[in-house]
Amino acid sequence: MQHPPLSAYVHIPWCIHKCPYCDFNSHEFKDQNLKDNEAVYSNALIKQIENYKINAGRKLHTIFFGGGTPSLFSPNTFKKIINKLDSKFGLEKNCEITIEANPGTLDKENFIGYKDIGINRMSLGVQSFNPTHLKKLERIHDPEEAFNAAKLAVKTFEKVNVDLMFALPSQSLEQVKYDISKTLEIGTSHISYYHLTIEPNTLFHKFPPKLPNEDESAEIFDLIINELNKAGFNRYETSAYAKKDAQCLHNLNYWEFGDYIGFGAGAHSKLTDAKNIYRQSCYKNPRDYINNANNENFYAEKKILSANDIIFEFMMNALRLSNGFIKNLFEERTNLSISVIEKEINIAKHRKLIIEKNGRIKPTVLGQNFLNELLQIFLKD
Ligand SMILES: C[S@@+](CC[C@H](N)C(=O)[O-])C[C@H]1O[C@@H](n2cnc3c(N)ncnc32)[C@H](O)[C@@H]1O
Ligand code: SF4
Repeated sequence: MQHPPLSAYVHIPWCIHKCPYCDFNSHEFKDQNLKDNEAVYSNALIKQIENYKINAGRKLHTIFFGGGTPSLFSPNTFKKIINKLDSKFGLEKNCEITIEANPGTLDKENFIGYKDIGINRMSLGVQSFNPTHLKKLERIHDPEEAFNAAKLAVKTFEKVNVDLMFALPSQSLEQVKYDISKTLEIGTSHISYYHLTIEPNTLFHKFPPKLPNEDESAEIFDLIINELNKAGFNRYETSAYAKKDAQCLHNLNYWEFGDYIGFGAGAHSKLTDAKNIYRQSCYKNPRDYINNANNENFYAEKKILSANDIIFEFMMNALRLSNGFIKNLFEERTNLSISVIEKEINIAKHRKLIIEKNGRIKPTVLGQNFLNELLQIFLKD
């Protein structure tokens, strides 16, 4: 089976404060000592990388340090991890290396430090520039800190992403306009604009805030698309907007059903070997991950995907892309003939959820807006 590009995801599961909307595998520090934690946890990461059984000798296409809040860790820690990944796998030329950062955790020296060790992309969790919304979201930064951190990021890194959220509690169109105009002022080339979702096991789920209704959210979304379009941003994925050549290569590899290895607590991998495509995940709780790493045991689960799993997972990723996928990519990445989904493609076309042009399958605007309905068509049992 042909091997797709290989990325590495490294999870840092700590945060200063748990945001009330967040269901990521992230944990507050409380009374734990950050420096001890950083050393112990990064040692476990290094061990996992050392122990990794190389498959097909691929160099790394991208690396992504996500969280949690990776910007709590020092440049020196990331240097050790990148060096270990480099000596184990090798890095492709121009390997995109991203760090996720919270504006409330950054100082100028760390920006330079991250850049100096080879990190070339920063993804900054701004969420909003409105002080009331930031308070409601219990963010640890104010609008000014977010703006200054983002300006400095653009000055320092080749590529910068700003994370924003919309449909925030009682959010008006005017407030969204302001968030967009402040973001454009920064001069970033990539924006991830997420619809705030209320996830189970979050504080917002227990104590729901008053959110814009469906019509109001749709109006906000139209405003975002129009304003970002006018400013030269192309919506290339459900929540991702980029200027020319500024797309996130790491996320693109997920959406194009590439391979990735997840290192760290709860991190998932998707891998292709000579016969199969499989998923595996690490112990989710950071303490379990660290304790098991002592016995060189990192993975809580491993599962070989069935043909039906592969079809659904491919579609779940590729149909998020505004430009969809070429049929050849489906065959190359799944090792299945496109004929196995011919019937489903025809149903989706008939319902005007996708179109086909020059061998490319693309979601229509309707398909993008009703992605779950579109995906249901490809869910076989
Ligand atoms: C892992 S966090 C980014 C880095 C850092 N932890 C931070 O928050 O600044 C990834 C992004 O997911 C988005 N996000 C998290 N929970 C969300 C939710 N419930 N609904 C919509 N977007 C969410 C936020 O925009 C957040 O910045
Ligand atoms: S800082 Fe980011 S990862 Fe941490 S709790 Fe908040 S949204 Fe979640």
